[in-house]
Amino acid sequence: MSDIESIIRQMTLEEKAALCTGEGPWATTPISRLSVPPLVMSDGPHGVRHPIDIDKIGSLSHSATCFPTASSLACTWDVALMHEMGQALAEEANALDVGVLLGPGNNMKRTPLCGRNFEYFSEDPYLGGEIAASLIEGMQSRGVGASLKHFAFNNQEYQRFSISAEVDERSMREIYLAGFEKAIKKGKPWTVMCAYNKLHGTYCSEHYWLLVDILKEEWGFEGLVVSDWGAVHDRVAALKGGLDLEMPGPKESRVQAVIRAVRDGTLSGTVLDEAVRRILKVVCKAAETPKGEAFDQQTHHILARKIAVEGMVLLKNNGILPLKRELKHIAVIGRAAKSPHYQGGGSSHINPTMVAIPFEELQRQAGDTQLTYAEGYPSDDQFRQELIDQAVSVASGAEVALLYIALPTYKESEGYDRTDLDLTEQQIALIKAVGDAQPNTVVILNNGSAIVVGEWIQHVNAVLEAWMMGQAGGGAIADVLFGKVNPSGKLAETFPVKLSDTPAYLHYPGENGKVTYGEGLFIGYRYYDTKQLPVQFPFGYGGSYTTFAYSNATVSANTFKDADGLTVTVDVTNTGSVAGKEVVQVYVHDHKSALIRPYKELKGFAKVDLQPGETKTVTLVLDFRAFAYYHPGYRQWITEDGEFDILIGASSADIRCKQTVVLQSTQQLPSLLNQESTIREWLDDPRGKAIFAPMFERMVAGMSQSMGGETDADEMIGIDIMTMVMDMPLLNVLNFQEAALPATPEQIVSSLLQQVHQLPE
Ligand code: BGC
Repeated sequence: MSDIESIIRQMTLEEKAALCTGEGPWATTPISRLSVPPLVMSDGPHGVRHPIDIDKIGSLSHSATCFPTASSLACTWDVALMHEMGQALAEEANALDVGVLLGPGNNMKRTPLCGRNFEYFSEDPYLGGEIAASLIEGMQSRGVGASLKHFAFNNQEYQRFSISAEVDERSMREIYLAGFEKAIKKGKPWTVMCAYNKLHGTYCSEHYWLLVDILKEEWGFEGLVVSDWGAVHDRVAALKGGLDLEMPGPKESRVQAVIRAVRDGTLSGTVLDEAVRRILKVVCKAAETPKGEAFDQQTHHILARKIAVEGMVLLKNNGILPLKRELKHIAVIGRAAKSPHYQGGGSSHINPTMVAIPFEELQRQAGDTQLTYAEGYPSDDQFRQELIDQAVSVASGAEVALLYIALPTYKESEGYDRTDLDLTEQQIALIKAVGDAQPNTVVILNNGSAIVVGEWIQHVNAVLEAWMMGQAGGGAIADVLFGKVNPSGKLAETFPVKLSDTPAYLHYPGENGKVTYGEGLFIGYRYYDTKQLPVQFPFGYGGSYTTFAYSNATVSANTFKDADGLTVTVDVTNTGSVAGKEVVQVYVHDHKSALIRPYKELKGFAKVDLQPGETKTVTLVLDFRAFAYYHPGYRQWITEDGEFDILIGASSADIRCKQTVVLQSTQQLPSLLNQESTIREWLDDPRGKAIFAPMFERMVAGMSQSMGGETDADEMIGIDIMTMVMDMPLLNVLNFQEAALPATPEQIVSSLLQQVHQLPE
């Protein structure tokens, strides 16, 4: 293709309008006379779902490797591995002639009830952003574009096509946008997919602030914004709002609306050209990548198995795992052992190249050990006691029972939310009955997001969270159970004790078309930590077959400037007898801040591989943002002078080392004082204090006099006057003293404000 500007110059208005809406379900409109090919897109995110009939939305797709879904990927905490997975995804996309893969999804897990959480990484934007960026970089390093989705505030499936998210500015910036921001600035995806829902009453597909002010201008996103499939309501409004490409097509009425709007002057030709330019850039980049070379299915299956292992989280183990090789008889219970639940329902559903059956994989590794199977629970929501009875009888006759428990699709999928966090009634009864009959019972879970386990966990010896583990997950489970691989996954989301403990419980799912994010910044561990609420399994937690010791934590400086950041090191030693991997996590706790902050926040992590007895030094760099928070008053990220704890740990609840440092802010911030500022705010503001302090002293003296003398003032009205006055606006205090003032209270405050603003920042 020749250069983009020259193509744009040669395009007719009709061609431009047509390019901005897809030609079919999965491709953009080609312009053959100018040699512009179609751009082919496919889901996404954890495999290539490329339909055999590209003209149909829901047709059977070509087979491709089904990797583990996002919940599992985030629990690997392994950015290098994510890069490798991204490359593998790109190889498959190239083989299938796909230019852009629709993923990854990086919406925050606001509530574990979101049915689509299996496609999202975490409740933490730092972790989600890092994992997403790595996947994107991996894909794009092999010439396939990523489409980071769903931008933004698509944190529930309930009414996802219409609901309006009502979110305060600080929570948007620090939680919901932060993960996207990191992934976009670091990963530089070719495309971003807008969400279906509204934000503050405006569809995300038409949201100028979201798509233009923030995404394109503030963050410098240079790619194209594509709609979620069917998210556009008004094509012209969407173009004005920054949405470049509408999918799917064809939609002739939309094309005609754009043509009319340009002709009658309601849509500027420059806005249309900008969308065309962004689309052509991606079309050209995709066209540069050679397509059609076959990928190695076996190699990718092996990679999928490795990733599945790394994402598995050992939630409980009283010593039964790894299983002993000399076992003679194992009971294998649960449908998921023979019909694995390895991916979620909806647009991400992959037609796998092969599927590892957990039972067969166990058999392969179990050698001469006898395996006896019982179904345990049905595929529907019927309660079948006879299946439990059979399972108990099989379990009693064996030395160990392995229970494969998968959360059924009717409880969790794209398109609808969960109504509770429980396993099915039958599964709970099954686990309890088998656990009571067999003293060596292990539960293996397949689900997409946190569940509650309190009712049954005491009945079993071990629990392995295997997630939606991808097509190779069956083998990965066997690897972990038999200790071929030491588990090293750590939770990217908190497992609560009960649903009513979850942060959004009182605000989800919303009503009258709106969902208010009333819990604000406090989602996930930010909430449980700050509120000091017990959880079942904390964020960052995961067991191992070995143990790790942390020592020699250091910081590069005890006092440092925000712009310089801080380097943290810590030695980690494998103190057990088998090799293993540890995820070292660094959280930052601010001692004092003008605005409320979560007790601590994740700001760095690293995964280290250690042989028994081996020690490695982990180095992590904390930048300006590690200490900053978004201040809606200043409308920017700010740092404040003061002490911070650097908390280094094995999970959010298992902090092993602490270093206290002093930050010196180098920011020059304007004063926020205004006509309504309180006495305390005047005194807390350094410039305000300089101007106001002499007057304050006079006011205090005057007040006590007017109340009848210093000593009696408080007693006369039974109140501590000074305490009360501190949080009154200066203006109101002056109003009480008006008779004694040389000017009106408004004039006095205005004059003080003027003096403050004249002082240097
Ligand atoms: C989903 C997207 C997906 C698209 C295309 C939508 O319903 O929300 O994640 O990429 O369909 O299948």
